[in-house]
Amino acid sequence: VTTGGNRRVIFARPPRAADLADCFDFASVAMPEPAPGQVAVKLRYLSIDAYMLPMLKGENPASPIVPGDTMYGRCIGTIVRSRSRLLQEGDTVLGVLPWQDFAVADDGRLERIADDGVPLTAHLGALGQSGITAWAGVVDVARAAPGETFVVSAAAGAVGSCAGQIARIKGCRVVGIVRGTTKRHYVMREFAFDACLDSRAPDFAETLARHADEIDVYFENVGGALLDAMLPRMRRHGRIALCGLVAQYGGDDAVPMRNLAALRRKCVRLEGFGVSDYLHRKADILAEIAGWMRSGLLKHAETLTHGLERAPEALAGLFTGGNLGKQIVVLV
Ligand SMILES: NC(=O)c1ccc[n+]([C@@H]2O[C@H](COP(=O)([O-])OP(=O)(O)OC[C@H]3O[C@@H](n4cnc5c(N)ncnc54)[C@H](OP(=O)(O)O)[C@@H]3O)[C@@H](O)[C@H]2O)c1
Repeated sequence: VTTGGNRRVIFARPPRAADLADCFDFASVAMPEPAPGQVAVKLRYLSIDAYMLPMLKGENPASPIVPGDTMYGRCIGTIVRSRSRLLQEGDTVLGVLPWQDFAVADDGRLERIADDGVPLTAHLGALGQSGITAWAGVVDVARAAPGETFVVSAAAGAVGSCAGQIARIKGCRVVGIVRGTTKRHYVMREFAFDACLDSRAPDFAETLARHADEIDVYFENVGGALLDAMLPRMRRHGRIALCGLVAQYGGDDAVPMRNLAALRRKCVRLEGFGVSDYLHRKADILAEIAGWMRSGLLKHAETLTHGLERAPEALAGLFTGGNLGKQIVVLV
């Protein structure tokens, strides 16, 4: 296929808590040769996702992996050899692929990406799964409406930044929650939310009460103690779109819920949802998001980390909050 090595990232040992530093090894594999109906892909971008921590702990049946396997996830690459009638050399494709420089895949499991003027990496973020997830939570699950107070946690992240922007487009007053003042300023500058609060600030409870005294919609990405603290702030007949519980994926923040009674008292609807239930509507949802992006209403934000060898570090960064927007690894 090409000269040079074909490095791969091996899942070596399960993580302890959210510590991913020691989970991976590197090795070289032979250059893959496509069989009929397959293509060889040179990987260019790896999507780094929060679900990967439960996946490595064996808690995600949809993404099985055992020690010794090559780590895998959604990736974008260029076809360097084709034995397919559907895909040609030079095509840019997106699919679930092993984390290695070159990989082989069945043509039916890859999606060709057209050169439509947006950065390719957006197809892993706002114009991909993160955007669809945000759309599902805001539009379908929470049914956010004009004039409502909409609060989103992990607001600087891939899903959170899209969710807040979509809620703003729908006419909501949007309040983000992040950890740290750098992220707080970033969210205000980049996404023009009405407010953004630092959940680690000593006066968090007071600022929350000031900016979001009665919350119509809470889009939850974090869980744990933060979710519990938000429950008494919900308005009567408010909705909580339960997107993710990233603070709990390490298993170290499974705090008891003390404020559940607020849900009953205020007749709040808490509903979990999964992006996989929306993939049959993907074309329509992405067309709407693409329209917002073209008219400047919605930004795809990203953090690019360069080098396959830094993929483990990029993944670990999701749980220490190292990323702004969608975390992507660029293969060089
Ligand atoms: N329902 C679905 O189908 C679906 C699909 C995709 C993603 N998700 C969920 O959406 C959420 C966001 O995922 P993403 O891929 O867009 O990641 P992301 O928000 O880009 O990155 C994760 C962010 O979570 C925050 N975080 C991590 N550990 C935390 C902790 N212990 N306490 C508080 N905050 C913590 C950090 O932001 P701060 O530094 O600001 O805290 C970090 O930047 C996750 O819960 C994920 O599981 C759900």
